[in-house]
Amino acid sequence: IHRGELKYEGKAKRVYASSNPAEYIVEYKDEATAFNAQKRGEWAGKGATNNAITAHLYPKLEAAGIPTHFIEKLSDTEQRVKAVTIIPVEVIVRNVAAGSFAKKLGLEEGTALSRPVVEYCYKSDALGDPLVNTDTAIALDWATETELTRVRELALNVRDFLTPFFLERGVKLIDFKLEFGKLPDGTVILADEISPDTCRFWDAETGEKMDKDRFRRDLGGVEDAYAEMLRRVTAPVDG
Ligand code: C5P
Repeated sequence: IHRGELKYEGKAKRVYASSNPAEYIVEYKDEATAFNAQKRGEWAGKGATNNAITAHLYPKLEAAGIPTHFIEKLSDTEQRVKAVTIIPVEVIVRNVAAGSFAKKLGLEEGTALSRPVVEYCYKSDALGDPLVNTDTAIALDWATETELTRVRELALNVRDFLTPFFLERGVKLIDFKLEFGKLPDGTVILADEISPDTCRFWDAETGEKMDKDRFRRDLGGVEDAYAEMLRRVTAPVDG
């Protein structure tokens, strides 16, 4: 398998064409950005850690009945995925109030929600990923109503799988961001990564943050937190 033309470069990943037109090769970079790239950093091994975490979780999601773009891990920092057209909507699922949701609503971080909240943001670096609703996404032809119904259903299925998965590993899944894509036949599948860059993970015992908030908020210990998340995700669980 050879990398072809660079199709897309994001803040943490590059997407290349592959020798098979139905597939892409995704490369995870060591760069970290926050606040729409106003804050930048990088550390050796970040890409490999996020690649490994994503590559471990995606087959489990597939086994749980969630269709995804993942095919296989190719190297430390690369994976083979199905080529999709990305729906330009970032889908955020929240179990607990934190981050922008807590701030916007004047809630203390950690405030319980009586059911999960699904939010949608328009995927636009230039605009800083503004919050939108499904009417907006439909009216601007980013996706159809049927596709968005499926996106919401899959996002909640991902949440239903991941929440107990992480809790068994001593981690509270506070919130996370997903992206979805469409195959040529129109099937909606899960794409992109699931990693400490895209989730909030709090240690179930101590409440300690084990995710990108350590970088965003200059809390220190970022590398250790990512490494510990990889360890917990991949370690066997008792019982
Ligand atoms: O900042 P906010 O509270 O809206 O983030 C919610 C969740 O979505 C967090 O887990 C964050 O890491 C993730 N997120 C992301 N990419 C973005 C915005 C948020 O992965 N562009």
